[in-house]
Amino acid sequence: MKYVPIVALMTLAACSQGKAPDAAPADMPPQAPAVASSGAAVVDTTLPVMTVYKSPTCGCCNSWVDAVKQAGFTVVVHDVDDVTPVKDDAAVPADKRSCHTAIVGGYAIEGHVPPATIKKFLAEHPKAAGLTVPGMPSGAPGMEMPGHEPDHYDVIAFQANGTSTVYESH
Ligand code: CU
Ligand code: CU
Repeated sequence: MKYVPIVALMTLAACSQGKAPDAAPADMPPQAPAVASSGAAVVDTTLPVMTVYKSPTCGCCNSWVDAVKQAGFTVVVHDVDDVTPVKDDAAVPADKRSCHTAIVGGYAIEGHVPPATIKKFLAEHPKAAGLTVPGMPSGAPGMEMPGHEPDHYDVIAFQANGTSTVYESH
């Protein structure tokens, strides 16, 4: 059950990387129910499709993927043995990396960035390469630790030239 929708979505993503896929969504009602995903998430078709690169063994990555799905993102997951080349390609600063790397709307999203922050960032569409929550702060989405006081952490916006600024503090 799990693999069928993922393969379908990968095909979709592959298509949309080539020439513009004409035809498809026209006959789809705007409020179409979720295609297929774990939980009761309703896909927000106004959001760009997110591609996530993660280690197959990363549990907190799966928790974060669930969180972005719950927030309405359509997510294509690629399990890879080494996420480093993706981070290099996406210009994620070497000292501000985390576990998984996601690509959405032309931005890189590194680590446990809150879904609401991603939506805000996409809407603002700033000139930047992406957002990162370096490391694995407890209390960030996908890093909830029951019984532990959540860490304070910053969401950092970074540029392709390596500079970065604090985008949001939690
Ligand atoms: Cu993680
Ligand atoms: Cu992760």
